[in-house]
Amino acid sequence: REDGETPRAPGRLVVASNRQPYRHEYGEDGGIEVDAPTGGLTAGLDPVVSSSGGTWIAWGDGEADREVADDEGRVAVPPGEESYTLQRVWLPEAAVEGYYYGFSNRVLWPICHEFVDLIDHRPEDRDWYRHVNREFADAIVDHADEESVVWLQDYHLGLAPAMVSEAVPPETTVAQFWHIPWPRAGAFRAVPDGRELLEGLLGNDLLGFHVESYVATFLDCVEEFVPGAAVDRETAIVGHGDGETRVVATPMGVDAESYDERSRAVDRSQWERLKERYDLPTEATVAVGVDRLDYTKGIPERLAAIEELLAEYPRWRGEFTFVQKGTPSRTDIPAYRDLGEQVRSEVARINDRFGTDDWRPIVYTEEFFSQEELCALYRYADAMIVSPLLDGMNLVSQEYVAASVDGGALVLSERAGATEVLGEDVYTIDPAATDSFAATIDEALSAPEAERTARMDRLREHVFDHDLEWWMDRQFDEIARCRNDGADRDGG
Ligand code: F6P
Repeated sequence: REDGETPRAPGRLVVASNRQPYRHEYGEDGGIEVDAPTGGLTAGLDPVVSSSGGTWIAWGDGEADREVADDEGRVAVPPGEESYTLQRVWLPEAAVEGYYYGFSNRVLWPICHEFVDLIDHRPEDRDWYRHVNREFADAIVDHADEESVVWLQDYHLGLAPAMVSEAVPPETTVAQFWHIPWPRAGAFRAVPDGRELLEGLLGNDLLGFHVESYVATFLDCVEEFVPGAAVDRETAIVGHGDGETRVVATPMGVDAESYDERSRAVDRSQWERLKERYDLPTEATVAVGVDRLDYTKGIPERLAAIEELLAEYPRWRGEFTFVQKGTPSRTDIPAYRDLGEQVRSEVARINDRFGTDDWRPIVYTEEFFSQEELCALYRYADAMIVSPLLDGMNLVSQEYVAASVDGGALVLSERAGATEVLGEDVYTIDPAATDSFAATIDEALSAPEAERTARMDRLREHVFDHDLEWWMDRQFDEIARCRNDGADRDGG
């Protein structure tokens, strides 16, 4: 592939994901507006599906989504180009509650992140998860033929691959990328009917994870819970019945170039406006945190480390401000609402303890930030602090690096997939070890500028060399390999 060209899928793509790339909504004047992807996987994959001319299957939500779709739930996108079909799957409220808020996010999410105390399993949720996976699988089968590459995304669709592979021609390739961690067998044991989930995933020809440690724990679980499956540790291929599943680690990256470009395009005045809006001292050293409000992100642990920093390294008082942007997420689930309350009250307590008339140590906001405002924050902050207790990858940390065109420092949890790939140039912390966490923030903020710059330069090189397109190319290479192996086996 030439530089600048869109990654090419080895066949007509049929992508399936819980979230859709385009969402239609009613504007203030009652007209229909379309919300196009601005970042992440949907924005990166959209041009790829466009050029392969395929289909994207996803949960359609709301009246405006229905109004623009035809009787079968189909709408041609992107607007103006109409180069592929967005196939919406309509889910009644009870299905959303059971499949999305229920089994996906009250059972699989906590188990995969090893928060087994937070599992909240309601038996009917399991049935809804099966039902919705069947709906997705049926939609996929309707759109797939011998030439197709079916590419499923994430943990919402763990049963669909086996349902699909039973129904499509043997030449069709079925692949999936699991964007969150894969737990150790001890935690996986808590998945109700865990074997069914593993067998669902073994319906894939290819199964991708971010890092090798998740490949290893997945293979452990297959060995332990799927009798009869043959696990080859050398090749990471699982043989089962007539089929085989290749399991690979391909760490996901971000669209580094566009963060770099957007960040170079912001000027200091945008930063000055943000400082004014949030009342930041003119000369303060600033660190940022940007997260969905999720209990896996280690935000209370981060606040404890900031408190410790102010207590034990008093020279930062009045000199340092931590800006935390939180995005409320999955708020129908009590554990998420509780976290929001905990974060807001901890921020208030720490600000009460250390704040003065003209200095607030922590600025906490849930306001919307445009991409430009985010890039201004990333570019002009002195450091970013990312402290998940477990995270599949953590793309925000890579976005910060890509936008740090004038340097900066990344303080990153040893429990994020990103640490496995970014290596020793991040300032690594254990989010639960408050003392050393605070000491590392101090180290990152006070390191000589030459050291900070050298480390950030190397991080930037890595993030640019392993960006979102690199990740897609790797996935497509692996898929092409599965297709060739399949053709060889069938004597094609
Ligand atoms: O990291 C997993 C993930 O499901 C992403 O795919 C998604 O962007 C994020 O979590 C947000 O979750 P939700 O789609 O539940 O809002």
